[in-house]
Amino acid sequence: MTIQNPTSATSTTPVTVIGLGLMGHALASAFRRDGHPTTVWNRTAAKADQLVADGAKLATSPRDAVAASPLTVVCLSEYDALRELLAPEALDGRTVVNLSSGTSAQARDTAAWVAKHGGSYLDGGILAVPEGVGTAEAKVVYSGPREVLDQYEPVLRSLAPDNQHLGEDHGLTALHEAAFLAIMYSLLNGFLQGAALLGAAGVNVSSFAPVAAMGIQVTTGWLGAYAEQIDNGEYPVLDATIDVQRTAIENLVRESEAHGVNTDLPNHLKSWTDRAIAAGLGNSGYPALVQLFRHPSTPA
Ligand SMILES: NC(=O)c1ccc[n+]([C@@H]2O[C@H](COP(=O)([O-])OP(=O)(O)OC[C@H]3O[C@@H](n4cnc5c(N)ncnc54)[C@H](OP(=O)(O)O)[C@@H]3O)[C@@H](O)[C@H]2O)c1
Repeated sequence: MTIQNPTSATSTTPVTVIGLGLMGHALASAFRRDGHPTTVWNRTAAKADQLVADGAKLATSPRDAVAASPLTVVCLSEYDALRELLAPEALDGRTVVNLSSGTSAQARDTAAWVAKHGGSYLDGGILAVPEGVGTAEAKVVYSGPREVLDQYEPVLRSLAPDNQHLGEDHGLTALHEAAFLAIMYSLLNGFLQGAALLGAAGVNVSSFAPVAAMGIQVTTGWLGAYAEQIDNGEYPVLDATIDVQRTAIENLVRESEAHGVNTDLPNHLKSWTDRAIAAGLGNSGYPALVQLFRHPSTPA
């Protein structure tokens, strides 16, 4: 591998952005606004028009785009399109930061492919919507070699002031994103169950929203101690036993039935506590359930 720029990047280091959808466009705008000479490429070239009018340079091919800058940021809705687009011979000595969402296996495979062709690779995840990119609210997490992130931090800070390195394993970003999705969709489905239940009782959902937010905040406060128990593999009761939690969930099932709303989610929650109790965990704290989550699902 040819080390093209072993020193730290600066606030005027050129950068290339490949993929100018909603997010890629926002990324390129943020680099350009901060004064980085910005080269862009998109399959549908017209999406670059505004950026070019604002001073970005349009490359005629992905190969030319990569050649234009030591750092290329990729943001595509199809993770594996990166390998179809980037010419392997253009990667030698270049750094690719992929901010497309994918799986940990895709990230590790792509990192190995870039390394095979002499480049370095970071996988990243954007914790922001496009309009938040480049503002104080934006946060981007990265996985891969720490020294590569350190080298290009002055450039990547244009996207978010808060950059977090998750670890050397390229798969860590995708794994954290998947874990976050598990939390996000579980929370949202719980909110919708509550909304359906209260709606059936004639309660306006807007008045439930602040109560729901308070419940989420209280639950968030338990995470640190639960995490410590899971790391230690010991589950003394901090709040209530699984036996008691099962009764609470049963009340949710009964209220849902009584109001004629869907009981799939409440029954699903109850089934976890039933299984934990059957496994002898009834007197343990709730985080002991992680032992069930660690095993693959039983085929239906
Ligand atoms: N939008 C968000 O709020 C957000 C937040 C965090 C993370 N992300 C992640 O950012 C990535 C992009 O999201 P987005 O919202 O920008 O999506 P988008 O608006 O749909 O844009 C998709 C981009 O991918 C390109 N593309 C897809 N398949 C391609 C292929 N086979 N060859 C060449 N180009 C291809 C599209 O090119 P064309 O323009 O030619 O179709 C376009 O530039 C996703 O992985 C998403 O999960 C998005």
